[in-house]
This record gives sequence, structure tokens and C-alpha cells, in this order.
Amino acid sequence: MKFGYFDDAKREYVITTPKTPLPWINYLGSDSFFSLISNTCGGYSFYKDAKLLRLTRYRYNDCPVDMNGKYFYIKDGNTIWNPGWQPVKTELDEYECRHGIGYSRFHGAKNGVSADVTTFVPTNDNCEVSRILIKNNSSETKNLQLFSYVEWCLWNADDDMKNYQRNLSTGEVEIVDSTIFHKTEYRERRNHYAISSVNARTDGFDTSRDAFMGAYWKSAANPEAVEKGELTGSVASGWCPIAAHQINLSLAPGEEKSYIFVLGYIENPEEEKWESYGIINKKRAWDMLSKYKTDEQFLAAFEALKAYWDELLSKYTVKSDNDKVNRMVNIWNQYQCMVTFNMSRSASYFETGIGRGMGFRDSCQDLLGFVHLIPDRARERIIDIASTQFEDGSAYHQYQPLTKKGNADIGSGFNDDPLWLIAGTSAYIRETGDTSILNEIVPYDNDMSKATTLMEHLKRSLDYIINHKGPHNLPLIGRADWNDCLNLNCFSAVPGESFQTFGPSEGPVAESVFIGGMFVKYGEEYAQLAELLGDSAEADRARKEVKIMTEAVEKDGWDGKWFVRAYDAYSHKIGSDECDEGKIFIEPQGFCVMAGIGKDNGKALQALDSVKEKLDSDYGIMILQPAYTRYHLELGEISSYPPGYKENAGIFCHNNPWVSIAETVMGRGDRAFEIYRKTCPAYTEEFSEIHFTEPYVYCQMVGGRDAKFHGQGKNSWLTGTAAWTFVNISQYILGIYPTHKGLQIDPCVPSDFGDFEIVRKFREGTYNIKVKTNGSQKGVKKLTVDGKVCVGNIVPYEKGKKIYNIEVEM
Ligand code: BGC
Ligand code: NOJ
Repeated sequence: MKFGYFDDAKREYVITTPKTPLPWINYLGSDSFFSLISNTCGGYSFYKDAKLLRLTRYRYNDCPVDMNGKYFYIKDGNTIWNPGWQPVKTELDEYECRHGIGYSRFHGAKNGVSADVTTFVPTNDNCEVSRILIKNNSSETKNLQLFSYVEWCLWNADDDMKNYQRNLSTGEVEIVDSTIFHKTEYRERRNHYAISSVNARTDGFDTSRDAFMGAYWKSAANPEAVEKGELTGSVASGWCPIAAHQINLSLAPGEEKSYIFVLGYIENPEEEKWESYGIINKKRAWDMLSKYKTDEQFLAAFEALKAYWDELLSKYTVKSDNDKVNRMVNIWNQYQCMVTFNMSRSASYFETGIGRGMGFRDSCQDLLGFVHLIPDRARERIIDIASTQFEDGSAYHQYQPLTKKGNADIGSGFNDDPLWLIAGTSAYIRETGDTSILNEIVPYDNDMSKATTLMEHLKRSLDYIINHKGPHNLPLIGRADWNDCLNLNCFSAVPGESFQTFGPSEGPVAESVFIGGMFVKYGEEYAQLAELLGDSAEADRARKEVKIMTEAVEKDGWDGKWFVRAYDAYSHKIGSDECDEGKIFIEPQGFCVMAGIGKDNGKALQALDSVKEKLDSDYGIMILQPAYTRYHLELGEISSYPPGYKENAGIFCHNNPWVSIAETVMGRGDRAFEIYRKTCPAYTEEFSEIHFTEPYVYCQMVGGRDAKFHGQGKNSWLTGTAAWTFVNISQYILGIYPTHKGLQIDPCVPSDFGDFEIVRKFREGTYNIKVKTNGSQKGVKKLTVDGKVCVGNIVPYEKGKKIYNIEVEM
């Protein structure tokens, strides 16, 4: 069952009922100002950092769910309704939500009146702009009232939720004409404020939540001032400041009126904070508002957003017989890659924005799916991430986007982290050819007195693994590796202790075969970087270490039919046939085969066959089997989840593409695509009533076979799945892989996939690629560039060349 449909021409998902299984959201903003917006107009905004500079309040864990947003109310006689249905929930005659690329549109209609809201964040401004068109479709004159409402957050979203004894006394606002200024804490150390404004004369306002809603038993669903049809003109002092506007309007039959609302963030230089004593300097606010006064201005800003995305999404486009692949590749998967790049795992409807900031490993992986879109931002991100690394090569697990400083609460000790920096940097250099980044001087732990080249950072990443090995010569796992919940040194027996921070950050015994696989893959990529810098001795050293690691994995990381997952603190195997639970895990199978381990001796194929036999399900590949049925002190958080959920035998979407890529490495296109298809949103759309999450983006996890809700998705949007599935489909299945020498073309598709065409912008060139598959799954038989036959499957990069016309025969 579906709750909407894709409108590919407009690059929109059209939701046709407000009653979706979960709030289905979208992200507005691409640089510094961001908003989350649901299909019922719920959501919130922040500037750069969802924790430290939150503009509007949201209530997580609320009932009903998805409460607080930027709401419009229309009062038509005694009927009050919202274009997005919530919060009043008056049944609408018509409802539609169109989530587009960086914008959302809502259409609601009731009793002959329609309202069309378009909301977006302009490409170069720190605000969210919403236009509402209200139209009288009836044959009588309508006297209506339009109300707007947002509730301010007192900036630090964490403190805002906890520190009422202070916060209920700090709220301050100013009101000038149709603009409400939220200036809490501006009197002291802040030099920023927020505005809510409309481009029309208003007939009333409220800035105190209690005045707007009425006494404390009322809510946004039935605000008293709206019910009375008259806002009270309240000026907030403490308690809960809001911004609400009232506009009375009369519409003749057929008449339509337009109002443009702006929610903005303004920062003043310290010396320009004040206009006069206690009165904030509003110049920058007026400048911002002057840009969104007319419909023409609004439409021009909207067009600029569209043009921005046209250009980004022109970098990789495919035309194949498979509409679902086209739609994911050309639109939604790349869009989600941008969102995960911007947000890491900070702010979604499942990440509150007050917990994790930017994850070290998460952001490095997000780069893999983003780097072709805006390489310069990827470059900046690599430097930011590397700047939080420690001198010994280990890394803070997370950092805060505003301060860009490592988060000491969570600390370090996740021993896969260092290698992801190599992965991200290698992807950036393969994409751009810009080796100068390796010579950038980058601090450790943000301390410029300890700074070296980025290449030296990567060397220390590699050496961290080399210098931290256990009894089987495999990498020590530390607090955990990619699987945050495999906490082999933790031994937590007390409820509430954090599995991420409790216990020693590293033990001398517990080892990870997965990190071994990673080392083999990224050790080789590191060696290539060293070669680019002319350091063949370093490349040789790295390759020697890769060989040593490969041997260790083949020897003690092989269980007979698949790769072992890890060794615990007693040196017992995890993910082995000899275990009674957790006999096989997905991660090492995907990564070791991707790295080429066992490719020539049958182990790789055997491991992938074992995955199919033991871990596959109708909805994707489960992370492990059999599920852990009891808490294992020696394994940590993984066994804390009920069977079938999350890291305990859930279908973790993130590592499904690893196995799919591994299948392409082995040339099995049918199977690679089968894996791709099972978690792909354009396919899961068909059973949205089971899958629950948005059918246009990936979610983190789907209930596994042991779960009560097998097939149910959770934690949509912010997941490494976005980047990895894009890498999988674009670079391995469709097969356009950036190398240091040029674009490699080596598709691995299902035998019935048919011919396809790709346009790929790579460095200064546009590559028009036509692939004839001839029913083959893998193997390029002939490749011509501009009519000339090319040896091998890499189209050599030619500096300055603009157009490459490429024909491929498989
Ligand atoms: C989640 C992981 C997450 C970890 C740290 C676990 O509960 O399952 O995915 O990385 O917490 O926040
Ligand atoms: C989500 C985390 O953000 C990611 O870093 C981790 O690898 C996976 N969960 C698996 O635990």
C-alpha cells in the first residue's frame, strides 16, 4: 500500500494523506540554515548546529507525535483548519504534501477555500521563506482570518529542555510592525536573534505562548486567541516566547491573496549589537526582509534554488529501462547524500540534535556519496574532521558542527575511525585529482601547535592499526568498530551505564576481523596516495602491511565457510559456527570481499554464498544470525536489543550495499541487484504500510526475521546507507568508478537490465557514456572514447578536455 506517489518530472514525492505511518519529512537548507519539515508542517529550524543554535522548538517523544512546527491557521466562520492538517486536525476536503528537493509544498482545502503553502530555505540566506496563497473557490465572499505560529527555542536546545528554573525567566522579544524579534540572551553574551515576519500589514500579534493558547490546558491544537479570532498583542517576558501573526482578509469569489512569511536568523558584529540602549540593531533584519517582499522576489529565490539543484544533479544522471533506478540515482539518493553530509547523524526525527554532532566515521563515509556534488565542501570537511584527530592517529568519535571541536563526553577508542579518514580523502582525490590537500597543514585535537600535513595524519591513521594488534595479529577493536554495539571490552552490568564510554577504551585481546578487512581495502588506497606524492617507499611499506593483514585475516579470520567477525576479550570467536548465537555477521563478509580477500581462492564466493544462505530475508540481509536471545556481558550493547532489532539481527541497511558491492567484485550482477532492490526506497514504496518510513529515502534499520515487526523501517534519513548505496549503484552496479587515472567503466548489472546511458561530470569533463550490455552481467569487451578503441576499462583523464563520448560493449 502506498500513501502517495513519485512525480519524477518535478522531482517530488507527493503525499496524498496526512495520516502516513510516521511523519514523513523533508530537509530545507543546504549550507548553514536548516529546517526539518514533516508532511503535516511539523518540524524545527536551526543555524549550523541543531544543539547550540536551535531557533524553534520541537517536542520529541510527544503524544500525538510530531508536535510543534510552523503552523498556519485559517479561521472561516467557526471552522479552523491548517493547510497541513496538524495541529487542529480538522478533516480537510483536499490535502496534498509535495516534498521536493530543498522545498516542501502543501495544499489544503476546506469549505471552498484553498491554501497553498510553499516553504524553502534560499540558497544564500539564513532564513526559511514560506508563501501562502489563499483562494476563495466558492461563489460567496469569504471573510477569513489567517494566523501564523512558531514557538521559539532558547537557542541551546539541550538546556532549553531541562533548565526551566532559569529559562522561564529569560525570554525577551521586540515587535516592530509586522516583524517579531526573538532576542532572548541577546542582552548578555549572544549577538544573534531570530525574526518572524510577514510582508503585509497585520491585524494582531502574540509573542507569549500562554496568551496565544490560553491557560495551560490548551495547546497548539486549540489556541484560545485563534478560536476567539483575535490575538491579544502580548509581549513576552519570560515563559515561552512565540511569534504569531493575525491577518484579516476578505476574498471575493475566485479571488486569491498571497502572503510571504520569513523566519530568519541574524548575527550582528559585537560592536554593532545595539540600536539604542536595550534595543537591538535591526539593520541586517530589514536587509534580509527587503529581499522577500514581493511574489516576484519569492519566485526568483525559488527558481534560484531549483537552478542550484539542477546543476548539482546534473553531475551524475542515468537513463535506463528501470524507472526506479533512474529515480533513485538521478534524484533521491543524491539528495539524501547531501542531507547526510550536512547533518551527519545530528538532527532528524530520530536524532534529536542534542545528542550526537558530527560522527568521525559517519562524516567520512558521508563524503563517499557527496564528494562529486560539491568537492570544495568535501575538502573543507576532510580538514575539519582530521583536525579533531589525536596525535597517535586515534580520533574523537564525534565533534560539534558549530565549534568543530571533538566531543570529550564520548571520547575516542573506536578503532575503525582512523581508517575512514583514508577512505574519505582517497575518494576526494580520486574525484578531483587535487593532491594538494595532502600537503595541507592540519592540527591534532584542534591544536595548531601540534600540526602536520594531512598525509601525515593518514599515515598515523594507518599506523594506529598497525600498532594496535592483538594475539591473532588482527586489529584490536577498542570500544567498538563500525558496529558501535559490539563492545568487547565494556563488561557493563549496571543499568544505564553507557556502552560507548564505560570500561577501558581498549583491551589487549579483543580483535576485529572487520577492521582487518578495512585495513586491506584502505591500506591499498593509502599506498596509492603515497605513490601520487612520489613516495614509493611508503607505498611499499603500506602494501607490505596490507599483505601481513591479509594473511592474518585468511588464517585466523576465516571460519571455514565465512569470515569470523571478531575475537572477544577471552579470545573466543564471535561470528563463528562454533558459537551458539551470532554465528555469522554481515560486516566482514562485505568488507573482506570488497577488499579482494579470498577472491582467488574461493573464500570470497563461499562467504557471499553463506550470506545468502544464512542472512538473507525478504526485506534485506540481516546483520547477524542467529540473533542473541540473552544479554551477553562480554559482547555489550549488541545483545541488549531484542532479537531482530538494530545491531542484534536487524537488517542494517548500511552494510547491505557492502555485500552488493562485494557481489559486483565477484561479477554476480543478478545477486548484486537483488540486494540493492530489497532495501531500495523506490521498491519499498509498494509496501509502505509495512515499511513505515519515507519511500523516498533510506532508513537505518529494518526489523529482521526475528523481530515482531519484520520489514518495518526505523530511523530514516541520517544513515550511512545513503552514501554507500549511492557508491554501490553509481560506481559498482552501473560501474562508473573514479580512479586517479580517470573514470573506470566496469558495470555489473543483472542480465536483463538492458542498455543504459550515463552522463557523468568528472573534473572538467562531461562523459557521455552509452553501455550495451548484451545480456552480460560483467565484463567490458570493448570501450571506445570519441570513436577510438581504448585499452582496458579506464578512460584516461585528459587535462582540460571538456567532452568525452564513450561507447561500451559488455
Ligand atoms: C545504536 C548505534 C549507535 C550507538 C551510539 C546504539 O544504540 O544502535 O547505531 O551508533 O547507539 O549512539
Ligand atoms: C549508526 C552509527 O551512526 C554508525 O556510526 C554505526 O557504524 C552504525 N550505527 C552501526 O552501529
